[in-house]
Amino acid sequence: MTTTDTAEGPGYTSSYLADQHAGQLARLRTLERAFDGVSQAVFEQLDLSGKPAILDLGAGAGSLAAWLSTRYPDATVTATDIDTRFLADIPGIRVMTHNASTDDFPAASFDVVHARALLCHLTEREEILTRAATWVRPGGWLVIEDVSLQPSLNTANPLFRKVAEAGISLLEQSIGSDMLWADTLADRLRERGLSNVGQRTVEGRIGDNSAADTFWAATTAQAAPALLKLGLLTQSDLDAMANLRADPGFSDAALTLVSAWGQARG
Ligand SMILES: C[S@@+](CC[C@H](N)C(=O)[O-])C[C@H]1O[C@@H](n2cnc3c(N)ncnc32)[C@H](O)[C@@H]1O
Repeated sequence: MTTTDTAEGPGYTSSYLADQHAGQLARLRTLERAFDGVSQAVFEQLDLSGKPAILDLGAGAGSLAAWLSTRYPDATVTATDIDTRFLADIPGIRVMTHNASTDDFPAASFDVVHARALLCHLTEREEILTRAATWVRPGGWLVIEDVSLQPSLNTANPLFRKVAEAGISLLEQSIGSDMLWADTLADRLRERGLSNVGQRTVEGRIGDNSAADTFWAATTAQAAPALLKLGLLTQSDLDAMANLRADPGFSDAALTLVSAWGQARG
């Protein structure tokens, strides 16, 4: 992986996707609308009973943590993020500032450790996954969900492919993201010794006015100044892509949300 040195250095928190960006809360809401139903269905099949301790790592704007505290009223739900500004007013959850790349939890602290759309963006993803597996109690679950942009690379449309390649390149250069890592998630969990590993992959499209389409458009719009600044796309590329997306004759697979889960051995 190559990274571009900027004044602040590469990384999520100094990037165009960081929480201090004016459009970030609205963009995170589009992500939640696209993926919360998938994440909730994954939790529903885990058979959580008693008073589970649940960690949502890199919880963002917190809609999933809020749902967890309502769905499992006896649970203790801890929501962490490196920037907790959007988590402050959510009732029923514990909020903690925590850098997943450097901060730890004691071994066997939680019945479920969950992270969505986080590890793909952190260069220490493999090491974080290893540590996060140790935070799960025997019999508990590690649930990792991440976005893969592989479908956008498979498109037959040359403009969409150009925009997709530019977006993946920007994410890699400016943040250190690996937007294909999600495709190997289940194997990564097996490598950590987890059992009963399962996986679900849900496709998101563009050009169909779906929630995934809105998330894709919000993220591309937020990335636009950086794409132009680095010369990865021109304004006419972006304008043509906006027209293509609005064309009723166009729709294409853009991404998958890969959800993978595995159980800590007793
Ligand atoms: C794409 S958002 C996903 C938010 C949430 N998990 C969701 O799916 O709705 C990524 C989140 O990770 C947080 N983040 C970035 N780097 C982090 C780190 N090193 N440790 C913890 N959180 C981090 C960001 O602040 C942001 O809220």
